[in-house]
Amino acid sequence: MKNVNIYSLKNVTKRYGENENAVTALDNVSADIRKGAFIVILGASGSGKSTLLNILGGIDQCTSGKVLFEKQDLSRYGGKRLTAFRKEKIGFVFQHYNLIANLTALENVEFACEISKVDRGRAKDMLGRVGLSHRGDHYPSELSGGEQQRVSIARAIVKNPTVLLCDEPTGALDVKTGVAVLGILKTINKEDGATVVTVTHNADICRIADVTVSMRDGRIIEQKQRGNPNMPDEIDW
Ligand SMILES: Nc1ncnc2c1ncn2[C@@H]1O[C@H](COP(=O)(O)OP(=O)(O)O)[C@@H](O)[C@H]1O
Ligand SMILES: [Mg+2]
Repeated sequence: MKNVNIYSLKNVTKRYGENENAVTALDNVSADIRKGAFIVILGASGSGKSTLLNILGGIDQCTSGKVLFEKQDLSRYGGKRLTAFRKEKIGFVFQHYNLIANLTALENVEFACEISKVDRGRAKDMLGRVGLSHRGDHYPSELSGGEQQRVSIARAIVKNPTVLLCDEPTGALDVKTGVAVLGILKTINKEDGATVVTVTHNADICRIADVTVSMRDGRIIEQKQRGNPNMPDEIDW
């Protein structure tokens, strides 16, 4: 399955608003994403990073162009099919964790199991994978930012998603905690084979990325491919 494109974007444009208020958030973006790759997206605020992730994840649809996922064109999907795609294939991790405040860490992950109709027992396993077995009965307010983000990663991976999309997952964390969180994403990428696309400002992460994509004004201005075989497996912090 190596060298298979999981996504193929062809001339993807996304506009918000109309006429004089129109904003072109993505401007004719074409790119391929290999199955199992670890992709990092860099770019200044407003450059279109979140818009791109949302289109990859079926949260939003492009105005023109094609978004092929496993050769199916997401841009032609109706609402129901898009929701099913999202539910089945995509795990999301956001900057602000978005945990449910009155559920414990474990309950947050169990809730995701219910939504995805997977065995609730997976919740404990996933908390273990992110190193939080001992924090299962803590509420989000009792956890540090890094711990909360790890819970949100556990929540995102219970359904064993084909793709994990992370929008500035380290944006609210100090550098060291952020690196640890990104290391967890890398582990999931390696162990589960999930394709990971993450937006981050953490320049260190480029060292573990297979591809670094730089965006400006809705365009991809640079793509750097790393020599995978020689890349370090983990960041030696
Ligand atoms: N829902 C929206 N309505 C109107 N404009 C939007 C909307 N979402 C994003 N934009 C605009 O699209 C551009 C790209 O935004 P975004 O993808 O959020 O960038 P980034 O994540 O890189 O900061 C920005 O100019 C932003 O203001
Ligand atoms: Mg953004």
